[in-house]
Amino acid sequence: MLKQICISAMLLMMLTLVGCGGADDDEKKVVAVSFPNTTGSWQRNGDSIKRFLEDDNFVVDLQFAGSPAEQSSQIANLIEEKPQCIVIGALDSAGLANVLKGAKENDIPIIAFDRIILGTDAVSYYASYDNEAIGEAMGMYFEAALNLKNGGGPYNIELFAGAPSDNNAHLFFKKTMEILEPYFRSGQLVCRSNQRDFNSVAVADWNSSNARTRIKNILDTYYTGGTPLHAVLSPNDDIAGVILEEMKARGMAPPMISGLDADPAAIERIKAGQQTFTVGKDPDHLTAKCVRMIKAVVEGIQPDINDVKTYDNGVKVLPAYLCTPMIIDKTNVGQFKG
Ligand code: BGC
Repeated sequence: MLKQICISAMLLMMLTLVGCGGADDDEKKVVAVSFPNTTGSWQRNGDSIKRFLEDDNFVVDLQFAGSPAEQSSQIANLIEEKPQCIVIGALDSAGLANVLKGAKENDIPIIAFDRIILGTDAVSYYASYDNEAIGEAMGMYFEAALNLKNGGGPYNIELFAGAPSDNNAHLFFKKTMEILEPYFRSGQLVCRSNQRDFNSVAVADWNSSNARTRIKNILDTYYTGGTPLHAVLSPNDDIAGVILEEMKARGMAPPMISGLDADPAAIERIKAGQQTFTVGKDPDHLTAKCVRMIKAVVEGIQPDINDVKTYDNGVKVLPAYLCTPMIIDKTNVGQFKG
């Protein structure tokens, strides 16, 4: 009898312990992430956030979307799951205000990642790079490398920008052009296609096949018969890749060309002397900052921020942590893995 009581007591204890394990699981904090599936950099950022948070015992629901409509319904579903925080890389910076009303009603904090979310007060914080600094860095690189301040040129240049639906694309282009515009006026830079305003040079959805169609048209119309194309402003590495392919296919020498993201393929191209530079957005740096932000938000404390004035989303100025980008070219590419 006594033996039976002991065994029952032991079983009860074991069950309680198993039960406690279940309770621990229930108490795990859930973070949802919704990112674009457009470029490899989003996959790397998503994986990195997931890894950091899971190491800290969070449950992470990481999802990718291919269009603004898909992302809106994805976020609506994530809101239903009532996570402790949702991190969003917006496909359409201005298209999420409606769906985010649901997050606000349910007190779910939203962190905008890399791209600002416009027109809503439902966003608590913004974790990004200094996107204006990225545009400036690109402009300054061309200015110095083409020796424009000292009268270099004339050089033929063509311009590309990112997606009109992405606020970053506008900032990059605006800041680069503030530096390059005077050299178009002086005739040191010549854009033979004459496509120089944002709407003419933007690549819808950042989709590299759209960029391919545009560069093919430009090359076949304005750069035939040996006319050189000396420089190309490319807003990211993906797009730089297709521009270089199309130039190579026509037997043209690689131009001075920019990029963004430090994609492994771009690092290889820089090492091979094909792509001139990329702007590195160290994914671990940004995601580490974002993860600290998520944890603070989940615990209800003030996260580390370093900017409270730059990113006005039309409804509020988003408290932000902005990381510093870095230029990677032939002088320092050796430190980076392709
Ligand atoms: C990001 C870039 C990225 C691009 C396309 C931009 O918002 O800032 O790093 O290459 O989106 O995904």
